[in-house]
Amino acid sequence: MAIDSILSAILLSFLVLFLGPYLQTAKLCSCSDDHKIGNCHSFERLALLDFKKGVEDPSNMLSSWRLDNEDCCKWHGVGCSNVTGYVEELHLNTTWDTTQATRLSGGISPALAQLKHLKYLDLRGNALDSIPDQFIGSVKELRYLDLSGNYFEGRIPQQLGNLSHLHHLGLSYNRFSIQELQFLSHLTSLEYLGLSRSDLSKTGESLQYINRLHSLSELHLFGCQLPSFPLMTNFTTTLSVLDLSDNNFGGFFFKAILNFTALQSLDLSGNEIQGPIPKAIAQKTSLKTLRLGGNDLTGPIPDVLANLTSLECLGLEFNHLEGPIPLSFGAFCKLKELALSRNNISGEITEFVNGISLCRPNSLLEILDLEQTKLTGNIPYSIGNLKSLRELFLQQTSMNGTIPKSLGQLSELEWLDLSLNAWDGELTEDHFANLANLIFLIISFDEKPPKPLFFNLSSNWVCPFTKLSYLDLTNCQLGPFFPSWIRNLNRLGDIMLENVGISDKIPNWFPKIYPSLQALDLSNNQIRGKLPLELRNGLKFTEMDMLNLRGNLFSGTIPLNINETMPNLSHVSLSNNLIEGSIPSSICNLKLLEVVSLSSNNLSGELPQECWKDLQFLEVIDLSNNHLSGKVPISIWSAPGLSILSLSKNGFSGNLPPNLKTMGLLRVIDLGENSFSGNLPMWMGKRLPQLEILRLRSNSFSGFIHEHHCLLHSLRILDLAHNGLSGTIPHCFGNFSGMATVHPTDPFISSFGINNHEFVEQLNVWITKGIELEYNGTLAFLKCIDLSHNAFSGEIPTEITGLLGLSILNLSMNHLTGRIPEKIGSMQRLEVLDLSRNQLSGSIPQAFPL
Ligand SMILES: *[C@@H]1O[C@H](CO)[C@@H](O)[C@H](O)[C@H]1NC(C)=O
Ligand SMILES: *[C@@H]1O[C@H](CO)[C@@H](O)[C@H](O)[C@H]1NC(C)=O
Ligand SMILES: *[C@@H]1O[C@H](CO)[C@@H](O)[C@H](O)[C@H]1NC(C)=O
Ligand SMILES: *[C@@H]1O[C@H](CO)[C@@H](O)[C@H](O)[C@H]1NC(C)=O
Ligand SMILES: *[C@@H]1O[C@H](CO)[C@@H](O)[C@H](O)[C@H]1NC(C)=O
Ligand SMILES: *[C@@H]1O[C@H](CO)[C@@H](O)[C@H](O)[C@H]1NC(C)=O
Ligand SMILES: *[C@@H]1O[C@H](CO)[C@@H](O)[C@H](O)[C@H]1NC(C)=O
Ligand SMILES: *[C@@H]1O[C@H](CO)[C@@H](O)[C@H](O)[C@H]1NC(C)=O
Ligand SMILES: *[C@@H]1O[C@H](CO)[C@@H](O)[C@H](O)[C@H]1NC(C)=O
Ligand SMILES: *[C@@H]1O[C@H](CO)[C@@H](O)[C@H](O)[C@H]1NC(C)=O
Ligand SMILES: *[C@@H]1O[C@H](CO)[C@@H](O)[C@H](O)[C@H]1NC(C)=O
Ligand SMILES: *[C@@H]1O[C@H](CO)[C@@H](O)[C@H](O)[C@H]1NC(C)=O
Repeated sequence: MAIDSILSAILLSFLVLFLGPYLQTAKLCSCSDDHKIGNCHSFERLALLDFKKGVEDPSNMLSSWRLDNEDCCKWHGVGCSNVTGYVEELHLNTTWDTTQATRLSGGISPALAQLKHLKYLDLRGNALDSIPDQFIGSVKELRYLDLSGNYFEGRIPQQLGNLSHLHHLGLSYNRFSIQELQFLSHLTSLEYLGLSRSDLSKTGESLQYINRLHSLSELHLFGCQLPSFPLMTNFTTTLSVLDLSDNNFGGFFFKAILNFTALQSLDLSGNEIQGPIPKAIAQKTSLKTLRLGGNDLTGPIPDVLANLTSLECLGLEFNHLEGPIPLSFGAFCKLKELALSRNNISGEITEFVNGISLCRPNSLLEILDLEQTKLTGNIPYSIGNLKSLRELFLQQTSMNGTIPKSLGQLSELEWLDLSLNAWDGELTEDHFANLANLIFLIISFDEKPPKPLFFNLSSNWVCPFTKLSYLDLTNCQLGPFFPSWIRNLNRLGDIMLENVGISDKIPNWFPKIYPSLQALDLSNNQIRGKLPLELRNGLKFTEMDMLNLRGNLFSGTIPLNINETMPNLSHVSLSNNLIEGSIPSSICNLKLLEVVSLSSNNLSGELPQECWKDLQFLEVIDLSNNHLSGKVPISIWSAPGLSILSLSKNGFSGNLPPNLKTMGLLRVIDLGENSFSGNLPMWMGKRLPQLEILRLRSNSFSGFIHEHHCLLHSLRILDLAHNGLSGTIPHCFGNFSGMATVHPTDPFISSFGINNHEFVEQLNVWITKGIELEYNGTLAFLKCIDLSHNAFSGEIPTEITGLLGLSILNLSMNHLTGRIPEKIGSMQRLEVLDLSRNQLSGSIPQAFPL
């Protein structure tokens, strides 16, 4: 390049850059020094460079767009006319699922208005946010414009309405505010219109402009808040793809639909369409895709749907359909996807699978989604012939029997979910023989079945699915040896092997070979050895979120560097193991911690002091049943988000500090079986409004129960037994409204996700043990008062007999006097009543059901 042209190029780029907005009308292209380099016009090159300057390009998509790379027609995404050299096409779309970090962001430079010959502009899937009116106003030749999936906002540029050559207009997935659609009135050549995820509920009558687009072949109005079916008769010959999913209309409008002679794809899913599927839809034999999922469809699946012999995709999931899969469906040889999940459909899948398996040369079925149905019977052997199958969802049906070995022939299978059914028998190497593409393998049970599903795999088996990312075999039988075949699955992110019968030593290689581990659940096995958390050589699990090793025989100490090897841990349970030593302060450097459960180990020493206060997400602390001692750090008593605090069965001492006032979200306090002392502060009633379970049993608390304590309206378990409390039982005990109702309280534990099972179980055990009886009901129903072994005096307040939800009332071993309230006989739920070792008179009324 000659010096002067470099200079003029620099000068031009300076002008465009700094004066660009003012130069729009000056028509740079008519400058006398316009010249071509290669095929590329220099003024267009500068315009493109100006566009590049205006955007962030983190993935260097535009790295070839450089001044020293002169022929702009060869730049990435640029297409020029091979006759005139003018830029006609810009392909700057990214793939739909590209992460934010690799998209173009920022605004479109007005300089792009120089590209007067532009016919094709694809900016899909970026993060651009502004588009100048001048630009749209000057690219009059545009035939293809796709801005979908950006952050454009405000009104639609009015000049868009003058682009009368447009065939393709994609505006979906932006933030445009669209009040009316008149801009469509001149776009008579449109074949494709996408306005998905735009709120069109305010466009009123102007919606009719869509009906005048006579050439329209694809219309995408997904998620547009349309209150009614928008289309009338004018598309009869052209419309081929109609996506009206996720709107708010009720009717089916199949009469209008029948008029669309060329319709191939119809998506009405996620609306409010009620009633049976109209049989007449079977006349629409041009259909290849029919999606009606997520409506309120009822009745059987019509047999005549099988008349739709071109059908490739049928989605009826998430409705209220019932009855069997029609026999005729076995003839759907073009079907690629069938989704009938979340309906009440029943019967067996055998006929259907047998039918499809006879398709020649091959079944094309890729996705079979039948989860959460009432299907029965077993998986037929012929399933092995569905060679194209990629995703098979059969979880939570009523199916049972043995799983056929032919499953192992499905070499394309990526997703297999057979969980929550009643399978029995065994799974062998044959069952997995050719599953080289498997990514998700889920065969779990919600509890161990009487005859568990056996994994009969030899210790030297080399498993074929090396791409596996998710493994959940909860409650299957894999043991007794640690499954060595998972060793070569180094892409595993989730390993869920709860209660799979392993009683073995943890191998040395575990879990070091899983760099992308996010969740590890080995709970309720009998795995021995040091906690597999001492990771040396700088190995880190930065994505690790959940670690559940509860209920094993793990020994050793909690590693000091757990905060460095698993910095993102949010749920951790090491309960019921043989872990010793003290709790390291590194625990408190797990900033995302929500649930920490270390109960029933041999932990000892004092708790790390100032450490807990920065854990802003902490909801559950369970350190019960260890040998911990000393004062509980003030920083625990100040964790504002805490919901469950269990420190029971340790050697903690001290009293309830004023900081407890700040813990207004507490629902469970269990300090039982420690050496806490002092009185029960009066403010508890006011400051702990959500408290449901207060368990202070077997400590050295003294003083009185005050009327203020009766403000704990949500309380349903009050266990103050074995303390030194005295005074009378206040009459206001009748105000514990949580105990007055017989309804179960909502199962609050469920809000803690991963550890909920464990916690319910655990709490059940503590409470029942504490109360020293075998309580086999569920915790949600349990309502009790235990004040035994104290020094309470005075009469039993009659108001207590109004607590009709109580199952257990234990007031024994006090100094109570007076008569036993008559009405105690009307407490129908009461299973245990112990008033012994007091100085009471009268008798337990006959009416009492015991
Ligand atoms: C221009 O490109 C078109 C299609 O790419 C081709 O058919 C035509 O022959 C080319 N013309 C010239 C002059 O190279
Ligand atoms: C851009 O879109 C074209 C046409 O749809 C497609 O073939 C191409 O793969 C897309 N490019 C990227 C990077 O996604
Ligand atoms: C659009 O075209 C109409 C005439 O067809 C013209 O009056 C109007 O000014 C144009 N609008 C823009 C913004 O170019
Ligand atoms: C159908 O097209 C005709 C002819 O362009 C037009 O007059 C009529 O209004 C359109 N119908 C609807 C319902 O928009
Ligand atoms: C179907 O088309 C016919 C003729 O083209 C028209 O008379 C009728 O109204 C249309 N039906 C519906 C429901 O749009
Ligand atoms: C389905 O096809 C059969 C046989 O071709 C035909 O007799 C029947 O009328 C069709 N049913 C519907 C609803 O289209
Ligand atoms: C299935 O049937 C039961 C009992 O009639 C009903 O309660 C349930 O809502 C139905 N489920 C679906 C998905 O329609
Ligand atoms: C499967 O379930 C059905 C119905 O509940 C029962 O009759 C049958 O014996 C079961 N089959 C097996 C193999 O468990
Ligand atoms: C496991 O498989 C082997 C060979 O496939 C067989 O000999 C053995 O009986 C099976 N064991 C169980 C418990 O089913
Ligand atoms: C893990 O935490 C670090 C900061 O501690 C954060 O940068 C990273 O994005 C987190 N990773 C995941 C997968 O959450
Ligand atoms: C991990 O915890 C230790 C002990 O509290 C602390 O010294 C160290 O700085 C922490 N590391 C990180 C990355 O938080
Ligand atoms: C506990 O089990 C016994 C015997 O199975 C039964 O009679 C009793 O009703 C059960 N109690 C509760 C609270 O479920």
